[in-house]
Amino acid sequence: DWTSESFAEQTIAELKVELGNDRVVMALSGGVDSSVAATLVHHAIGKNLFCIFVDNGLLRKDEYEQVLHSYEDMGLNIKGVDAKDLFYSELAGLTDPEAKRKAIGKAFIDIFDQEAHLIEDVKWLGQGTIYPDVIESVSVKGPSATIKSHHNVGGLPDFMKLKVVEPLKTLFKDEVRAVGRTLGISENILGRHPFPGPGLAIRILGDVTAEKVHILQQVDAIFINGLKKWDLYKEVWQAGVMLLPVQSVGVMGDERTYENVVALRAVTSVDGMTADWAHLPYDFLAEVSNDIINRVKGVNRVVYDISSKPPATIEWE
Ligand code: XMP
Repeated sequence: DWTSESFAEQTIAELKVELGNDRVVMALSGGVDSSVAATLVHHAIGKNLFCIFVDNGLLRKDEYEQVLHSYEDMGLNIKGVDAKDLFYSELAGLTDPEAKRKAIGKAFIDIFDQEAHLIEDVKWLGQGTIYPDVIESVSVKGPSATIKSHHNVGGLPDFMKLKVVEPLKTLFKDEVRAVGRTLGISENILGRHPFPGPGLAIRILGDVTAEKVHILQQVDAIFINGLKKWDLYKEVWQAGVMLLPVQSVGVMGDERTYENVVALRAVTSVDGMTADWAHLPYDFLAEVSNDIINRVKGVNRVVYDISSKPPATIEWE
């Protein structure tokens, strides 16, 4: 019978044999999968695992600092790389969602490659691939497979001739979480909602600028902290906010305003393949809406997305 304890124990033992004294490089995202995968490898080979955490400037408010500290507390050999400017300059002027994803993927690979080359004699690339990622990448799914170019799998530049180690390849998400708990990883990392690799860039409709990221980070933090405060965070599968390329008229005191609209999105789901919009309490939505409009300069209207997937996707881009 499968238990997280025996999986962890056996996997660590196998990794020790497979990796020996080799060096492994791994990019961490702050998400559940890469964190659990890295922890397993860390238990097997310790400081021979070199972890890299990139600040792409598209993370949630304060996320980079918080996640980096958690990784340090876990004893991982982790290097934080501030690459915000590169990502913003690669994204400048791009409005097409796929073009934005490609630019982000490329910037990420450039940074990762640069960092990996600094590690002498590295032989392996560690990845947090889980079973559904494997299925999604190989199956022929028709148009849905090409709607978005998820770059989590196979994003390895050819010239990096690294062997790949993927300790979670056979697991589903809930099993990954169970293994993470067995390994003592904090609930703060294990319990988080999924967050897309391209981050806030695909929640800023149209072109991405540092200013827009700053606005969206503030709005998103109010929404997410509100969900936690109201004990709703765990009730929803994923939540976030879209910054729309739409201005609307409002009034603030005696002044007429003409500012941005944001759309809140929260869904219930099992695996993200289908999703229902979360029926959040009106009182909660009212409080969050007031907080956003009163506290975030540049936003004067909040709407709630009541579309299910399919046909709508969870993200708007
Ligand atoms: P959609 O919008 O397709 O999203 O309903 C389903 C799940 O996938 C996430 N998502 C992404 N994750 N790179 C990622 O790593 C991407 O380009 C990407 N696009 C969507 C989305 O957040 C949701 O959890």
